[in-house]
Amino acid sequence: MTRLSDAMKECGVLVENELDKLITVPNTPEKKVAEAMRYAVLGGGKRLRPFLLMEVAGLFNVTPAGALRAGAALEMVHCYSLIHDDLPCMDNDDMRRGKPSCHIAFGETTALLAGDALLTRAFDVLADEKTHSDPVVRCQLVTELARAAGFNGMIGGQQLDMMAADVDMDLVEITRLQQMKTGRLISYACEAGAIMGKAPYNERQILLAYAKDIGLAFQIADDILDVESSAEVMGKNVRKDVDASKATFVSFLGLDEAKKQARTLVEQAVSYLDIFDARADMLRDLARFVVERKS
Ligand code: IPE
Ligand code: IPE
Ligand code: MG
Ligand code: MG
Ligand code: MG
Repeated sequence: MTRLSDAMKECGVLVENELDKLITVPNTPEKKVAEAMRYAVLGGGKRLRPFLLMEVAGLFNVTPAGALRAGAALEMVHCYSLIHDDLPCMDNDDMRRGKPSCHIAFGETTALLAGDALLTRAFDVLADEKTHSDPVVRCQLVTELARAAGFNGMIGGQQLDMMAADVDMDLVEITRLQQMKTGRLISYACEAGAIMGKAPYNERQILLAYAKDIGLAFQIADDILDVESSAEVMGKNVRKDVDASKATFVSFLGLDEAKKQARTLVEQAVSYLDIFDARADMLRDLARFVVERKS
């Protein structure tokens, strides 16, 4: 897996630098919120979503600088979702990416606003012509992100997740929850790369099928790690789902069956990529990483 980890590390540095440039702190009285935004986006995270976006964009020869901006915008939305996810009114977590959660460091009000501002900044970045020269492409990027992050995507999934502690859910309902709360932003990574590259319809559909499977597998792995890993390795608190009595793949199927399901999804995802040549090898490795990862 060194090929993949080297590539992810390299991409992580690019994403870090891009975010550093895109979110600056002005010398104005409200600067605390910009400081909180930078605190939440810089210096941590696997940068899986931007990596995926850039790899897919690479299949279609998209200008790397534009793909990097789109990847950074997606990472902003992801980081906003993490800030809000950690708030006391949601998962009430005091640690994220190995440091105090944003609301612990800056207070709840600023953390809430920093999340909001990251969400809006992401659309600002996507809509800028530096991201893509074609305004129709930019419009599609914005529209699809709004859908992936919103009520029919991550937000709807987070609402279901909050309810998962109180209501019984069957596997169909848990699957839907996971696909919305986590899967949709991961799917967007693939979709955005394909949109930027004006990918042919069938290739776009195949990439979406791949993304749907790895997105679900990614959240199943998160639920498994919540049981099996440690805060030191994860950089966030563990055993949260059991403590909150949340319905997850693990609580429903048990660890062994959940692992089997995640592996099956990954093999299926890899098989979708058969129509692509060796240029999709990183995507094949990434699918396996999603379930083999330790953090
Ligand atoms: C954590 O996402 C939240 C989930 C959707 C499971 P990641 O595991 O991608 O978190 P970072 O970005 O690496 O911190
Ligand atoms: C979070 O899921 C998904 C988001 C949309 C942020 P979790 O609540 O399981 O993520 P962690 O375990 O806190 O990272
Ligand atoms: Mg949560
Ligand atoms: Mg959480
Ligand atoms: Mg979790």
